[in-house]
Amino acid sequence: MQRILRRVARGVLSRLNDYRAQRAPAPPPPAPPPPAPEKKPNWELRPPAELVDYIEQHHHAGLRRDLPRLVDTARRLAREHASTAAAGLSDALAELFAELDGHMHKEETMLFPLLRTGTRGGELDMPIRMMERDHDGHVDHLDRIRELTGDFEPPDPAWASLYAELAALDAGLHEHIYLEDGILFARATMSR
Ligand SMILES: [Fe+2]
Ligand SMILES: [Fe+2]
Repeated sequence: MQRILRRVARGVLSRLNDYRAQRAPAPPPPAPPPPAPEKKPNWELRPPAELVDYIEQHHHAGLRRDLPRLVDTARRLAREHASTAAAGLSDALAELFAELDGHMHKEETMLFPLLRTGTRGGELDMPIRMMERDHDGHVDHLDRIRELTGDFEPPDPAWASLYAELAALDAGLHEHIYLEDGILFARATMSR
């Protein structure tokens, strides 16, 4: 009798385990692999036309897309969350945009077409010097914006998102200027 009871108990236990296994939640799917770090081309080795395309499509297009919006945001925040620390910021951004707009137009119409065809030497001297002088002006504006924002430390949380975008703008424009002065123009005038 006890043997029968043990067999019945084992059967019940086994069915109970099967039932639990069926009811158990499915294990979570494996986490996707982390994205591969963005691989930047070595611009020292790429053809000038490719670097010109990258500067126009990434840096110039990004500034035209983002800067007017940042000016508007700075104006709105100055109205709604006035802060002496940020006084003058929207004007400084608007001046930077006006300067960059004219500068990028000169690069795209005067200098870049020559660089795309691989032109080198004397005829590039004047336009390149003009662009380098403009770049000094951009850096002065960036320094002014950094000073006005106290190294991008927001005066209160309402300004935090704008200041984060301004820090990215600062880094992006410094990289943009390095790609032009340090690589594109330097390579075009190497034989000077
Ligand atoms: Fe540029
Ligand atoms: Fe430039």
